Amino acid sequence: MILPITVYGDPVLRKRTENISPDYPGLAKLIADMYETMYNANGIGIAAPQVGKSARVFVVDGRPIKDDDKKDDSLKTFKKVFINPEILEEDGDDWKFEEGCLSIPGIRDEVSRPAQIKLKYQDENFNEFIEIFEGLPARIIQHEYDHLEGILFTDHLSAFKKSLIKNKLAGMAVGKVSADYPIKSPPPKRRK
Ligand code: NI
Repeated sequence: MILPITVYGDPVLRKRTENISPDYPGLAKLIADMYETMYNANGIGIAAPQVGKSARVFVVDGRPIKDDDKKDDSLKTFKKVFINPEILEEDGDDWKFEEGCLSIPGIRDEVSRPAQIKLKYQDENFNEFIEIFEGLPARIIQHEYDHLEGILFTDHLSAFKKSLIKNKLAGMAVGKVSADYPIKSPPPKRRK
């Protein structure tokens, strides 16, 4: 089932997610729906808060951009579910790559991140792994991992770059947004 994607301004995107256990209700369906929602929006990764669930899970499929990776071919098989991930180390030189986000339609910009991560995570069967990722797979994980921490890629931009998109983001947060996939506009802010 294709789920509506939450948009910048939705509080769920700013909430740090909690670990989940194997008895998390509807987990298999949530994972299947996240893949379907991601493919429908031509994404290469999606995190649970982007479908309105504050749970520590994201899915990736880097195969659509496999030709962008000049260094190696690790994206060719990079389709994975990550549950309860924890970045143990970030290493290597920072490098820039243009990122976008299904929850921030219409905005893309270069983000600088370390080249390598050591990640502890569980798969969909709750088998635990500790693995080193680098290059684009690391990049995709870092972006999705941020979602689980309530962080968006625009948070990483310089103050100047942020000032350029400030109005657009403010508009998005009050529903001035469109995308070529189903979205859920942020709930109206309560007056205090
Ligand atoms: Ni994103």
